[in-house]
Amino acid sequence: MKCLTIFALLCLPICSSYPLNGAAKEEDLDDLDFPQRYLEYYYNLGKDTKQVYRSKDNGPVIKKTQEMQKFLGLEVTGKLDLDTLEMMRKPRCGVPDVGQFHDFLGTPKWRKNHLTYRIVNYTQDLPREAVDSAIEKALRVWEEVSTLTFSRMHEGEADIMISFAVREHGDFYPFDGPGKSLAHAYPPGPGFYGDVHFDDDEKWTEDTSGTNLFLVAAHELGHSLGLFHSDDPEALMYPLYSSFRDLTQFRLSQDDVDGIQSLYGPPPTSPDTPVVPTESSPLESKIPAACDPALSFDAVSTLRGEILFFKDRYLWRKLHWKPQPEFHLISTFWPSLPSDLDAAYEVISKDTVFIFKGNKFWALRGSEVQAGYPKSIHTLGLPPAIQKIDAAVSDKEKKKTYFFTGDKYWRFDEKRQSMEQGFPRLIADDFPGVDGKVDAVVQSFGFFYFFSGSTQLEFDPNARMVTHIFKSNSWLLCNQDREKTDVGF
Ligand SMILES: *[C@@H]1O[C@H](CO)[C@@H](O)[C@H](O)[C@H]1NC(C)=O
Ligand SMILES: [Zn+2]
Ligand SMILES: [Zn+2]
Repeated sequence: MKCLTIFALLCLPICSSYPLNGAAKEEDLDDLDFPQRYLEYYYNLGKDTKQVYRSKDNGPVIKKTQEMQKFLGLEVTGKLDLDTLEMMRKPRCGVPDVGQFHDFLGTPKWRKNHLTYRIVNYTQDLPREAVDSAIEKALRVWEEVSTLTFSRMHEGEADIMISFAVREHGDFYPFDGPGKSLAHAYPPGPGFYGDVHFDDDEKWTEDTSGTNLFLVAAHELGHSLGLFHSDDPEALMYPLYSSFRDLTQFRLSQDDVDGIQSLYGPPPTSPDTPVVPTESSPLESKIPAACDPALSFDAVSTLRGEILFFKDRYLWRKLHWKPQPEFHLISTFWPSLPSDLDAAYEVISKDTVFIFKGNKFWALRGSEVQAGYPKSIHTLGLPPAIQKIDAAVSDKEKKKTYFFTGDKYWRFDEKRQSMEQGFPRLIADDFPGVDGKVDAVVQSFGFFYFFSGSTQLEFDPNARMVTHIFKSNSWLLCNQDREKTDVGF
C-alpha cells in the first residue's frame, strides 16, 4: 500500500507524462505537429524539442522515431517515411508505449486477487447485454490464466470502473474523435487507478465491422491489471488495434500470459505437489495439493450429483462421469462466499446447498446465492452459545439434517423445519467409532463419510458402525487410489 500511495502522489497523470494540449482535431492529422505530438504523447519526447522536423538539430526526434519504429516493428530508419506515418495514424490504445513511472516506483499491481468492476455507463452503439458480455469475456481472458477473479458491482466504487466518454471527460486525457486513440486505462491503485475509458466516438461493435469492444476491452483491462505495452505484434498488449483478427481464433500470446503470471501467478490447477508462493507472486494462501497425504477438508457437500470438497479458498469438484476432479477457486462459482468454510450440506429435495461459516449460513441453488442470506445459524434453532459448527450433513432418505460441533450433534427435521427435541447428543453414543473432531461429513451411496484431519471414516447409518477407513483425499484419485483399510466388520 505504501508503494501505491507514493505512486498516487507523484504520478497523477499516469496515462502519459506529456498529455496532448486539448483534443486533437481532424485537420491536425496531416500537419507536422501530429508526428511530434505522437512522439511526445506515446514515446515521452521532451516538450521543449520544438518543431524538430523543420529544424536542423533533430537528434532527439530521430532517436524517438527510431524507438517507436523498433517498438512497433517497423524498419528502423529514424525518418518519418510513409510507413511510419501510416503506422502513427492507425487506431490504437491511448496509453503510452514508453512510460516512466514504473522505472522508479516499481511495477504497479493489485495487492489482492479478487477484484470488483462496475460498468458505469454504456455506449449507444450496442445493446447493454452486448457491452456486459464483451466486458465479462474480456475479464475471463485474464482470469483463465492467472489467480485473479472478478465480480461485478452495480453501484458504489469498484476497483475497475468502466465508462464510455468523448473528448474532454475529466481526466486531462481528452479523447480525439473517431479513430486514432480508442480507449485508455489506468494501472492498479486506488481511486481512478484501474479504471477503463472507451472513446465513444468510435463505432463499437460485437463483430469486427467497427471497433470490436471485446478486443479493446481485453487489452485495456490488461493495463488495469498492471501490464504495459508489448512490442510483440502477436500480443494482445501490442498498442495498435488489429481489426483483421479472427475473433473465433482469439488467444493470448505467450508474452501476455508471462506478463500477467509474473504479477499474479498462474491459475490454480489441481497440483500434485504444493505450489509455493514466490516473492513475485505472493499468494494469499498456499494452494492445497490434492495428493498431499496430510490433506484435510473444511467442508464437503454433494451438489446436483457432484461432490464438492472445500479447502481454504478452493474446492475440488468430483463429477461422476469424470475420474479426475476439477480444482477451482470458490469465488469462481460464488464470488460472495467467504473462504475457510466450516460446513456444507445439500438438501436434495430443495435443490439447495447450505454453506456455513462462523455464525452465518448461505443458501445456494447451482451457482446462485439465494436472496436474504447470509442468515444467523441461530435461526435454525441452535442455542446462542454455539457460535460455529464443525460439520453438517443431510440424510436424504430420513429427511433429517445433522449439525456437528465439538463432541455433540443436533438434529434438524427437514419436514417440520425445526430442531428436534432431545438434542444435543454425544456423537460417540450414536455414531460409534467416530471419535475425534469432525471436519466434514457427506452422504454418498447410503453411507456417511466422516472427515477428521487426513482420516476418513465410512459409516453405515443402518448398521450403526464404521465399515471402512480411508485417507481423506481418497476421492481425489491420487496414486494410492482409494486404498482401503478394512476394519474387519
Ligand atoms: C460516462 O461516465 C464518464 C465518467 O463518469 C463520464 O465522463 C461520461 O461523460 C459518461 N458518458 C455518458 C455517455 O454519460
Ligand atoms: Zn494499451
Ligand atoms: Zn480518460
